[in-house]
Parts: sequence; C-alpha cells; structure tokens
Amino acid sequence: MALRPLADAAGLAFGAAVKSGRFAEEADYAALLAANCNIVVPENAMKWGPLMTGPGTYDFAGADALVAFAERHAMRLRGHTLVWHRQLPPWIEKGGLDAAALGRALDAHIRTVVGRYRGRIWQWDVVNEAVADNGKELRDSVFLRRLGPDYIARAFRVAHEADPACRLFYNDYGAEGAGPKADRVYRLLQELVAAGVPVHGVGMQMHRSLGDMPPPAAVRDNMRRLAALGLEVAVTELDIRVPLPATAAAFAQQAAHYAALLELCLAEPYCKTVLCWGMSDRYSWVPKFFKGHGAALPFDGAFGPKPAAHAIARVLREAAGHAAAETGAKGAAPR
Ligand code: XIL
Repeated sequence: MALRPLADAAGLAFGAAVKSGRFAEEADYAALLAANCNIVVPENAMKWGPLMTGPGTYDFAGADALVAFAERHAMRLRGHTLVWHRQLPPWIEKGGLDAAALGRALDAHIRTVVGRYRGRIWQWDVVNEAVADNGKELRDSVFLRRLGPDYIARAFRVAHEADPACRLFYNDYGAEGAGPKADRVYRLLQELVAAGVPVHGVGMQMHRSLGDMPPPAAVRDNMRRLAALGLEVAVTELDIRVPLPATAAAFAQQAAHYAALLELCLAEPYCKTVLCWGMSDRYSWVPKFFKGHGAALPFDGAFGPKPAAHAIARVLREAAGHAAAETGAKGAAPR
C-alpha cells in the first residue's frame, strides 16, 4: 500500500501531521510517511510554545529536522501554527504584557518563524481557532483581550511580509458543515477579504467521530461559499474516531466517510490539499483527548492499512484515471 504515487497522479496534496523526532528514530515510521505523503505538517514542532525557550529565544531543532526530512523526500510542507490560544509560551499566555509589548512579541514571532523558512513552506496556518464555539463571537484569548479583533489581520499582514509567496490560511474546527460556527468563520473571512488582508485559504480541521460527520453536501456548500470569496479550502487535520474497542463495522463506516470526503475534495477545484492528523493509530492525539475513542486514522498501530486506507487508495486511483484521461497523458495536470 502506497498512497503517495496515487495522490501525485491525482494531483492532490495528501499527507499527515508528523510526530516530532519519531521519524528520525523509527525507520518504519519514516518509511510509512515516505510511502503515503506528498505533504507533511508538524503536529506540534512549529507551535509557539514548543519553539520558544524564553523571551526572544528559540529552539528550532525539531522543526528544522522535519523541514529537512520533507525536502529529502520532495514533500511539500504546511506550517502550523503562528497564532493560537493554546500551546503558548507561559510569559505570553499569562497576560502580563500590555498591548504594545504583546503586539511587538506577536510581530517578532511571526517574522522570525516565517522568515526562517521563507520559500520552503507552501502553506502556513497563520491564525488557528479564533472563533468561539458558540459561533457568536471571536474566541476569548490573550490576543483578543489585549489587541482587539485586529490581531487577526495584523498577523496575516506580518506573515505576508515575511514570505510573500507563501499561501496563508485561517484554520478552525467544527466549522466544516452548516451551523453558527461555520457562519461566523465565513463572516470573518468575508471581512478579511473585503479589507484586503492577505489571506489565501481556509483550513477545515475535520476532527470528527462516526456519529458527527457533517453531510458531504453541507461541507460542499460551505466550501463553495468560501471559495466564492476567492479562497482555497483545505482539509487540514482529518481524523474520524470510533468507539473502542473498534469493530469491523465501525472501520467500514469510517472508510466510507474518508472516501466520501476525499471524493468531494477531488471534485472541487479550489480544494488542493487533504491532511490527516497523523497517518497511523500508533501516533494519534485522539485516545488522550477523547476518552474511550481512538483508531481514527487510515493505518493501524502496526502500520498496516485499515479499510480507510484502501478506500482512500480507491478514490485516488479513480481520480488519477480521470486526470490521465483528461490530459491524454500519464499523471495529472497541476491543480
Ligand atoms: C494537538 C496535538 O495533536 C497534541 O499532540 C497536542 O498535545 C495538542 O494539540 N487542533 C489543532 C492542533 O489545531 O494543533 C491540535 O493538535 C489538535 C486540534
């Protein structure tokens, strides 16, 4: 089983979040990633807290190692994430800085990190999860409290200056289908685009369970209205958890959901990227964060393909066939 050549032929950026350090220590993990991903994103290694050792000081070892790994394998890279209310350095999160100092720290962080990888990262998640779960307002965070709602536009502008060729994304969860949060995210993007803010795409995280997958038609409608603003839409953190112990029936349902989502994305021209939040159940945040659930990813803990991996392969193979028929050649036209 190797999904990467199929994704290449289908013209889709397909890959996974990577556990820092592991790929260097475990040859079979590195091989799993190489066989199945043409794009990777660090699960934690490029977040503000993990990167920053103290005010103004950084440890880039983990992030650099992943960038080198991706380049060795000619994979594309997503950066994740510059501004988020979680996994922050304590001196930022505690709220001790006044507006001017926090603004300076924010700008400096974005310039430092985006600047370091200028020209090597295809897409950055600039702002992550800035909309409240009730869909009514922006999420309460140290950034909103000190800087007001303008911190979002500011972050995109600074990132764009630091790497003008990079595709800049707003990324969120629970806003994939229909509902108040999806509407609020749409309105935020509408305002940013109207104000001329350099935002190029929206990431749909898509952490879901079998029971709460949004209907594909609702996801498509939502994606299309965002695309109508001139934005790209990516699936950025896909995982579909099942109750443990997992059953064959649950895996079959999970596979059908993976296939339907991939089919949807492949049929929409503005959807160029699908990333799972991990490739194998050996490394997944799900069991720790959603008690009693797990087995959310395409490959099992022994790196064997689950029905979901076979379903993804089938959909990619079909898309690659269509792409070849359309271009009259082997391989896909670039999306
Ligand atoms: C998660 C990681 O997977 C965990 O290892 C970490 O402890 C917490 O963060 N939305 C995001 C991701 O944007 O960064 C989160 O990743 C999962 C939810």
